[in-house]
Amino acid sequence: MKLADVDLTNPDLFQQAIPHETFEFLRREAPVFWHEEQDGPGFWAITKYADLKFVSRNPQTFSSERMGALLREPQPEQLPFMQSIMLNMDPPRHRQYRALVNKAFTKRMVENLHGRIRDMVTRLIDDVIERGECDFVDEVAAVLPMQVICEMMGVPEEDRRRVYEIGNQMVGFDDPDLQEGDRMADHEGQQAAAEMFMYATKLREKAVRTPGDDLATALVNAELEGEKLSESDFNFFFLLLLIAGNETTRTVTTNGTIALLDNPDQHEKLRQNPALVDSAVEEILRYCPAVNCFRRQTTEEVEIRGQKLRENEKVVLWYPSANRDEEVFHDPHRFDIERHPNEHLAFGVGEHFCLGSNLARLELREVFSGIVTRFHELERTEPPRRLRSTFINGIKEMQVRYRPGPRLGT
Ligand code: HEM
Repeated sequence: MKLADVDLTNPDLFQQAIPHETFEFLRREAPVFWHEEQDGPGFWAITKYADLKFVSRNPQTFSSERMGALLREPQPEQLPFMQSIMLNMDPPRHRQYRALVNKAFTKRMVENLHGRIRDMVTRLIDDVIERGECDFVDEVAAVLPMQVICEMMGVPEEDRRRVYEIGNQMVGFDDPDLQEGDRMADHEGQQAAAEMFMYATKLREKAVRTPGDDLATALVNAELEGEKLSESDFNFFFLLLLIAGNETTRTVTTNGTIALLDNPDQHEKLRQNPALVDSAVEEILRYCPAVNCFRRQTTEEVEIRGQKLRENEKVVLWYPSANRDEEVFHDPHRFDIERHPNEHLAFGVGEHFCLGSNLARLELREVFSGIVTRFHELERTEPPRRLRSTFINGIKEMQVRYRPGPRLGT
């Protein structure tokens, strides 16, 4: 492999698999690598664990706000909208926004949902278990995160499917399967965002009219410097929480199941000892993180590993690479559900550390407990269909077969 051959901007490459060989090569040969870009300014590719931490923990030098947090170059006219989402804000504004929702996602608050989440898992597996086959993505992995975040936000059952589909369209902008018709993908993404906004407005009106015990009502009543949140702030929160809470957890559920199927000894170990589910979930998060990358922009000159970065340059953090950094993880390409220690960076680190990490962990523990105890002789009947995306390590479809089993719920 040569440095000139490295192309981390090509979604076709990620559709085949995460390019772990390329990442390993970069970590060894050029850990802070200037990567040319065809339709962008070029960027510094950060592939080492310690460097990803350093960048994420210094938001004053590495801004999420200046150019947003996504790999794709934003259109100048899109930037102000993006900067209304806290993912694309810097402190001190970021802290103010984050404080509005932090409480709902603390370990204690999330623990209140435990029984409800367990019931949801029982029900979603009940819905397919007698059949002996299903599309694992659509009928198992996607259901729980969608139900949970919609319930937290107060989205009624009958609207959840549509909200979920729009979310898919917004994230799958590089995948022709997820765009309706033959219009430009950008246009599709904007249309999906507009529909999501319209829905959020409706939900806000409902929360104002009939307050409930949900996040929508909490956001309607929240205040920022003595002022109530504006309608557009509310909408942006809705958009972020729905998208961040849905795609990611679903992706980890599917990829984690693939990892278990590819490593039958580990699968069997977990079946024999379900108490290992906590450490299995951590290993799944390390081994197959949902998010491939996020972006920052330098606000001043800075040096990393002897490389001089100038002001106003693009920096891209590669999570799957940091999670397999051989300097941190022993035998990093091995899937070991008892790995310890396992301080992976699947949820990021520092200023923007994943708001939903407690919730995602709880969902993943419950769903994997259900998967390993209830799906016997689970196998894929066709190769999984991967998402064409440099951003999310997604799976669109995975047909599976298993020995039919009994329902557990009523
Ligand atoms: C396994 C599932 C998940 C993974 C792998 C994941 C990953 C991440 C990562 C890497 C970041 C850091 C972004 C950055 O540094 O720029 C992040 C931020 C975020 N995540 Fe998650 N996430 C997951 C689930 C969730 C869930 C369930 C929710 C909420 C409902 C959520 C909400 C958020 C939000 C709101 C942010 C932005 C936080 C901020 O800007 O302060 N995530 N997530």
